[in-house]
Amino acid sequence: MTLKIAFTGAGHISRVHARAAQAMTNLDLIAIVNHRSESMAEYAAQFGITRQYTAVEDLLAAGDVDILVVSTPNYLHAPQTIAALEAGLHVLVEKPMALDAAEAEAMQRAAERSGAKLMVAHCWRFDEEVNWLKRQIDAGKLGKILRTRGYGVHVNWGPGGWFVDKRYAGGGALADMGIHAIDAARYLLGDPQPASVYAKIGTDYTNYDVDDSGTIWINWDNGAISIVESGWWWPHADGPEASTQLYGTRAFGQLFPTGLEIPNREAETVATVDPGYPPAREEHCPQAMYDRQLAHFIECIREDRAPNPGAAEGLVNMRIVDAALESSRSAEVVRL
Ligand SMILES: NC(=O)c1ccc[n+]([C@@H]2O[C@H](COP(=O)([O-])OP(=O)(O)OC[C@H]3O[C@@H](n4cnc5c(N)ncnc54)[C@H](O)[C@@H]3O)[C@@H](O)[C@H]2O)c1
Repeated sequence: MTLKIAFTGAGHISRVHARAAQAMTNLDLIAIVNHRSESMAEYAAQFGITRQYTAVEDLLAAGDVDILVVSTPNYLHAPQTIAALEAGLHVLVEKPMALDAAEAEAMQRAAERSGAKLMVAHCWRFDEEVNWLKRQIDAGKLGKILRTRGYGVHVNWGPGGWFVDKRYAGGGALADMGIHAIDAARYLLGDPQPASVYAKIGTDYTNYDVDDSGTIWINWDNGAISIVESGWWWPHADGPEASTQLYGTRAFGQLFPTGLEIPNREAETVATVDPGYPPAREEHCPQAMYDRQLAHFIECIREDRAPNPGAAEGLVNMRIVDAALESSRSAEVVRL
């Protein structure tokens, strides 16, 4: 059966999702919603979309659509997602899922009430190298993972516009970039629950009313800890977006560059495992990652399965972001 897919937001990531949809069979790109008609018309022409609306409510009133992909500024994620779910549409919503955990909970409840599927676009779960490393972890090659370090930092660059305005973005580099590092660590660790969070978050490189610097310490309920750095305009970062280093009892593993170091204490040697990915990727966020993400969502809809990452994963990440901001304000550990 052909499914009809609509998009809200006609910016950068929405076009990536539309390209992913175009590459799939049995998927009709049917409508675009955007508050600016000029970019909407250009988007519609690029992807051969006939129906255009300036508000999600108008799309829902017109009906005849199965799926909505929400790629608008963060403050619109919850209202647009909830309205679509209530109309029975399946929704893929961009990260951060919402402005805060309270909104994310309301989205989760709306999905439960409607029976429609809600997926959160934590895209790194669909990266080839991330999944190579995950298979090594799941096969026990690293032993028990004790500690991870991860990065969500733009070096000598930062976004502008709505991304740096608290009203529209909710938060800054932590919600924008740090959340990729948090989700990558959690996915690799097998989705443990956060037990407590300690953080120092600040605005050190700009005069925005949102954060551009953060160091976050997460204690997971399986005993592992994750240290995450988030930033915009930093002069240096120890790895690109979502790069993660994992210290296990048997071995060390890392992403970007991806590989393992397996020590042999008796022989006093270290064996390296190199899966052969290029040390610097041509495109750090490749289209193929987003293609796999959308393909997973469509498969879950067709086979009536729960998508992963679903609302629960998006919500855990929002709880960690909220706890990190609270910890930084209070200078205390926040228990979850
Ligand atoms: N997963 C990723 O790799 C990734 C990458 C980039 C952005 N994102 C996320 O995607 C979202 C969008 O980011 P972007 O970079 O595409 O931003 P963008 O600024 O390029 O695009 C935002 C779009 O939303 C539209 N918009 C604004 N108000 C609207 C309204 N009321 N109704 C409909 N459309 C409206 C704008 O006109 C614009 O087309 C953000 O939440 C961001 O965090 C994720």
